[in-house]
Amino acid sequence: MRIADFALERFFARWEFAVRYLLCASDVEGYPMAELLALADPESRDLWERLRLGYAESTGHPLLRAEIASLYEGIGPDDVLVFAGAEEAIFCLSNVLLGPGDHAVVTWPGYQSLHEVGRAAGAMVTLHELREETGWDLDPERLIEALRPETRLVVVNAPHNPTGMLPTHEQWNRLTGELARRGIHLLADEVYRFLELDAADRLTAGADAFERGISLGVMSKSFAMAGLRIGWLATRDRDVLARCAAFKDYTTICSSAPSEILALIGLRAREAVLARSRTIIDANLRLLDRFFADHDDRFTWVRPRGGSIGYPRLLDDEPIDAFAARLVEREGVLLLPGSQLGQPGNYFRIGFGREDLPAALARLEAFLDG
Ligand SMILES: Cc1ncc(COP(=O)(O)O)c(C=O)c1O
Repeated sequence: MRIADFALERFFARWEFAVRYLLCASDVEGYPMAELLALADPESRDLWERLRLGYAESTGHPLLRAEIASLYEGIGPDDVLVFAGAEEAIFCLSNVLLGPGDHAVVTWPGYQSLHEVGRAAGAMVTLHELREETGWDLDPERLIEALRPETRLVVVNAPHNPTGMLPTHEQWNRLTGELARRGIHLLADEVYRFLELDAADRLTAGADAFERGISLGVMSKSFAMAGLRIGWLATRDRDVLARCAAFKDYTTICSSAPSEILALIGLRAREAVLARSRTIIDANLRLLDRFFADHDDRFTWVRPRGGSIGYPRLLDDEPIDAFAARLVEREGVLLLPGSQLGQPGNYFRIGFGREDLPAALARLEAFLDG
């Protein structure tokens, strides 16, 4: 298989651990291990202490799958397959569902693997472009128009990286209803689920929406535990899950045994874990709102409806790549220019899940003043 470089991941490989302030991180500040263990219930603490470091069950630890299933309405433990992060799940599912002669529609701009793996597998991919002038809105009618007889998969990431887009319930029902009617699979990338700014906006999970709906979840973003590398697919389509399980034999075979137990602890304590994430995000978003209001002559700002990322645009004549290069050089603050997502224009990604955002923003402010 030949596949294009993952531009964003190459960018992070260069910068992530070399800069002082990562003002474009996609995740929430990593959960402290000691605090996580302190949340363990007696059963999971016992599992942790007695853990033997052999191979784990390839579908995922049964208790972890049960805990993941409880995140959904109509999903059981056997409707869940655990992976090494969301990334492995995207890789396996795209290869299983897409090949030469197939077609997919994927929201864009976005996380590159969501469209790149399908392309590398030989499928035609239509990008469903979100546009700033319509508030980065998903347009179900335009998306449905892009469907073809050979469309096998639609991929929607919501809450969305990088715009914070979240469809309304009406938009979501329209799309999922049409896909159900046409028998097309939906990959709902819900890695930012539970970080909706208004909980009433939380959508019906893809896996609950219809039989061919597939939810993608992960410990990395809302649950603030990217280092576990635990993700999952949930769907009532057992055939797809079985084919993904067979494909996974060529990637990781099974997940990391310690990570599975830590993920179990984190999910069982999810009220506390998510409350911490929301507290960080709420405080940071208030600062960003004020920052962008104060500098509305320099930037556009469409307020995200969920997640921990926004996608403003620099209004200066200077290209965003040059601006970001000067900023990182002078202040050690990293932004992600839209060019890394393949998008022209002066857009950039800003992340607000990290605890050092106030300090990073102060540096950006000083940079603007300077
Ligand atoms: C929308 C989206 N999907 C999937 C992933 C992959 O998640 P992970 O790195 O935990 O595998 C990311 C990571 O940034 C993401 O932003």
